[in-house]
Amino acid sequence: MRRSTHFEQFAAPTAAPPPYRPLGQAEVVDCSATSVRLRASDATIEVTALAPDLFRVGLFGEGRPVDYRSAAVAKTAWADAQAQVDSSGTRITTAQCIATIGLQPLRIGFADSTGRSFATDDPRLGMGFVPLGPDVVDPLGSPARVYKQHRPTTHYFGCGERTGGLEKTGSHQVFWNVDPPMGHTAALNNMYTSVPFLMAIDDGQAWGLFVDSGYRVEFDLANEASDRCGFAVDGGPLIYYVFAGPTPARVLERYTELTGRIWLPPRWALGNHQSRWGYRTADDVVELVREFRVRDLPLDAVYLDIDYMDGYRVFTWDKKRFADPAELAKQLRAQGVKLVTIVDPGVKIDERYAVYTTGRDSELFCKTFSGDEYHNVVWPGMCAFPDFTNPRTRAWWSDWHRALLDVGVAGIWCDMNEPTVFVPTPQTLPADVSHHGDNEARLHAQVHNLYGQLMASAAHEAIRQQRPDQRPFVISRAGFAGLQRWALHWTGDNSSWWEHLWMSMPQLQNLGLSGYAWVGVDIGGFSGDATAELLARWTEFGIFQPFCRNHSAWNTRRQEPWAFGERFEALIRGALQLRQRLVPYLYSLFEEASRTGSPILRPLLFAYPEDETTYSADDEFMLGDALLVAPIARPGTEYRHVYLPRGTWVHHWTGETVRGPAHVLVHAPLGQPAVYVKANTPIPMWPVLNFDGERAPDPLTWLIHVANADAGQFTAYEDAGEGYDYQQGEFCRMRAECRVDSKRVEVRLEAPEGQYVPPRSQIEVELRGVGEPQAVTVDGQAARDAAREGSQLLVRMGAGEGHVISVET
Ligand code: GLC
Repeated sequence: MRRSTHFEQFAAPTAAPPPYRPLGQAEVVDCSATSVRLRASDATIEVTALAPDLFRVGLFGEGRPVDYRSAAVAKTAWADAQAQVDSSGTRITTAQCIATIGLQPLRIGFADSTGRSFATDDPRLGMGFVPLGPDVVDPLGSPARVYKQHRPTTHYFGCGERTGGLEKTGSHQVFWNVDPPMGHTAALNNMYTSVPFLMAIDDGQAWGLFVDSGYRVEFDLANEASDRCGFAVDGGPLIYYVFAGPTPARVLERYTELTGRIWLPPRWALGNHQSRWGYRTADDVVELVREFRVRDLPLDAVYLDIDYMDGYRVFTWDKKRFADPAELAKQLRAQGVKLVTIVDPGVKIDERYAVYTTGRDSELFCKTFSGDEYHNVVWPGMCAFPDFTNPRTRAWWSDWHRALLDVGVAGIWCDMNEPTVFVPTPQTLPADVSHHGDNEARLHAQVHNLYGQLMASAAHEAIRQQRPDQRPFVISRAGFAGLQRWALHWTGDNSSWWEHLWMSMPQLQNLGLSGYAWVGVDIGGFSGDATAELLARWTEFGIFQPFCRNHSAWNTRRQEPWAFGERFEALIRGALQLRQRLVPYLYSLFEEASRTGSPILRPLLFAYPEDETTYSADDEFMLGDALLVAPIARPGTEYRHVYLPRGTWVHHWTGETVRGPAHVLVHAPLGQPAVYVKANTPIPMWPVLNFDGERAPDPLTWLIHVANADAGQFTAYEDAGEGYDYQQGEFCRMRAECRVDSKRVEVRLEAPEGQYVPPRSQIEVELRGVGEPQAVTVDGQAARDAAREGSQLLVRMGAGEGHVISVET
């Protein structure tokens, strides 16, 4: 690995990369019930068991104090490690793991109770520093690294937002937020958000590693040498966490316990969102919504890009083009459409503009190294940049959101928050810009990766405080580990290229494996011109994203659903209606993610880590456990290969049943993307109607693709879709199960559990693949409301209680 040089004035005097020096001999200086503290020359090292499957290691160089403060970590008090530290301080044992600490030289390793070792230091290189030259003073401190053994059976995933395929073994990963040049290709390493988290799978067993540092971080995943990995921070302490798994779900559950989980969004957030940098007036927006309604296209939210502002001054409205924003928001709300507005961090320097003058007067902006306000150019011209590391700045920034929330804006879109500046070319703040807030001056290089996340947290808090009855809706381009508890993440300025449609799939899967459960890419692509077929195919994929938004740049061909004529509009309508039908299933997955950290859109390997074929399934994915989606990402193509892991899968459109593991060639003409449903798993769905996310439509349909296979089950979660009554028990869970034998299909709908009573009168069970049933009963009586069409059977019954539906086949 090579150290990047942020500071010309502190550059090492020679051109050669500075040598790395591993720590040598260490001595134990202190032991507690769960941790061991050591010293090796002038460094303090601490190894702590936080939970039976979670360890933390801290390396603090140059006599610096032990300090774990972090913007990523949500949970700091861990009480249940139940660890034992042996008397020599060289072994920490928990119910699941053993950490061993070799002292001569200092080497740290982990093993599970079966003896499987993971995240074990490379014996030769271990942990250590890249010492600065004798004449060099660097406020960042020496870069630190830890080298771990790489086993040939180990595969790496995660690493946050990336351009390439799913598996990251053999790669070098940089974590440093940037606004990358247009046209993201596989050559691009770091992007808008940084999540230095690794999901490793070794022989079907998962473990994880997270490096917690706001500095530049690098991972070398057996790229430099085939028998080791390296993890480096560009200064400051090296703090890393090791997760023992042994399943990907367990790793993520712990990781998101540490860094936080998504909150339960308002239900409208799961619907269809429409955006374009180019809706320039309130009339444009009204007309846009009218088109959606007239054309019977689902729509839940519209975005206002930077043009709503007065000269791009954040927290203002252009008085001519948006004369009455409150009236606009009200009109849209009446049609079931929410308004979301963009907010950028750059504050225009303008003496007549109170956001600037109040920030300046209270010294809330970042400064240059010599103490002046730091200025650079973004959309509004010369700007100052809030120092979001300062809690006072965050409170002040939150407060300014009143200009938006008071007029009825429902959500905030945080953009350009890497942060991006335009001069001399698009890049970020210089490393020596100073963040003087929070009673502790820090250089930008020390907090760079945290900037976007802290801005998003201020927006989240604004909605929490100013709209206490509403659930926050915040979208952010930049962030760090833990962004998921403040904002959903979209992947910035992709292009209207087939390659980018393909790229979205591994990208979102790795984000999901990195704790970001709520994610999406711009449907249709942001820059460049979409074609009819690309937009249709992209929408067919896009509806399965947790976040479903069509967005594009002002200088591109229009890509609203009707932009390419009736045939494509109909195809897109069909896809958007399927999205709408899936909302009850999606909402249940969001609730699961908020409880467990499980991704909503997940790689096949999440559920089938023992199956190595899933590791290269870049362009197919699961939505929850029951749907497997394999989009077409090439023009003029109707067939594709799909890998189906173990289990029985039913093709959603044709009903064809396949027993996995299997490689199949699937016909997926436009309008029928390859979607497989796990046999016998009930999927809760809404009817097709132009839904308003605030209402629960009637009836709820359980769709079941029946096959002679294992039983399937699903528990749907439902609540009011907004507000916080659910935290007082106002929710319900409805469990459905389907068993099949050679004579009958039996569906059990358990009585809803919980205080919330969905406002509906009917439940429907839609059974596909049942042939010609001999008899259909509901609760032992001949079904009163049952209809058959082909091999599809629809049985209706009253909502609110449990039922047993039995179909003799
Ligand atoms: C950035 C955003 C993009 C937005 C544009 C104008 O490029 O990523 O989504 O439309 O800025 O605000």
